[in-house]
Amino acid sequence: MNRIDYLRISLVDRCNFRCTYCMPEGMPIDYLPPPNLLTHDELLGLLQEVFIPLGFTRFRLTGGEPLVRPDVVPIVKAIAALPQTEDVSMTTNAFLLANVAQDLYDAGLNRINISLDSLDPEIFDQIIGNRGRSRWQQVWSGIQTAYDVGFNPLKLNVVVIPGVNDHEVLDLAALSIERHWHVRFIEFMPIGNSDLFGDRGWIDSETIRQQIRQRWGLGEGEVQGAGPADVFQIPGAKGTVGFISQMSECFCDRCNRMRLSADGWLRPCLLNETGQIDLRSQLRSGVPLIDLRQQVGDLLAAKPEINYKMRESGTTGMYARTMSQIGG
Ligand code: GTP
Ligand code: 5AD
Ligand code: SF4
Repeated sequence: MNRIDYLRISLVDRCNFRCTYCMPEGMPIDYLPPPNLLTHDELLGLLQEVFIPLGFTRFRLTGGEPLVRPDVVPIVKAIAALPQTEDVSMTTNAFLLANVAQDLYDAGLNRINISLDSLDPEIFDQIIGNRGRSRWQQVWSGIQTAYDVGFNPLKLNVVVIPGVNDHEVLDLAALSIERHWHVRFIEFMPIGNSDLFGDRGWIDSETIRQQIRQRWGLGEGEVQGAGPADVFQIPGAKGTVGFISQMSECFCDRCNRMRLSADGWLRPCLLNETGQIDLRSQLRSGVPLIDLRQQVGDLLAAKPEINYKMRESGTTGMYARTMSQIGG
């Protein structure tokens, strides 16, 4: 049975981008009022008294966009300093990364995964919903800075959308050849923007893998990480190419994670709400941490069954919440 030891922690539900596949411009979203976010101390208390005693050792900070949270560096520092922490990582859009990459590294952040859906600034801006000065260059320099500062592995996430960026697959895969960059192609999921999904559909990982294989050949690869990507390598490349294939091959039965939302809901699954627990309300109304630990322990015990049910029902239904609200 899988050990469930990986917690994805959403620090904030807000984002400075409006990606068309996630929270497109005009989509009504009820943002959390700031007082509803778990504070630095509440989060640390939950990690120390609830999650770590239950065996969690790997923590990924997500959003929304985690870098819009003003206290992100102290939070990283505090989590990295916990003696039981084996891995603390972040998923970001990198728009604010260049200025803070060194601080994050010094605070003890081990790894960064960055969304980069296009190398073409115009297409990039179209995907992220930007109508002002292009944001591509600032994101690119965020990626470069993170690499120069020493983040390794550095992973790039590409959501492949038919007719939008699928023609760039080879150019994006080529980024893994000269640098220790790990480019992962993600099957577009029907979470968030159902209109775009209805219009465009999705491309399966095997089709993309074939394109890359035909161009360069493709062998097995390896990279540090604990997520669902299947990893390959272009012969002679420094980095790898990965595939996250939740549409074509449900990986629920090897799931090792739970998710903590920015307002303190613990969710055992990205795609369904079975068993979720409101930790923040209980914490604020004085429920002892030891009781919360018991509840989370019970949910951990129930998770294999939840995963199994997910596997049975498949992962391709439509979902009302966006990735930004769930934490990706
Ligand atoms: P590492 O392997 O530890 O680097 O992390 P990761 O790849 O899980 O993290 P990242 O935040 O970069 O996630 C990339 C994508 O994987 C997300 O956009 C999701 O589409 C997908 N993903 C991550 N976890 C799950 C999961 O539990 N279920 C499903 N269906 N998709 C997931
Ligand atoms: N399908 C697949 N991946 C998505 N992400 C956001 N929305 C979707 C979707 N509908 C990805 C982002 C980011 C990660 C956290 O989630 O690209 O890399
Ligand atoms: Fe795990 Fe749920 Fe994701 Fe499946 S969909 S991999 S059960 S979190």
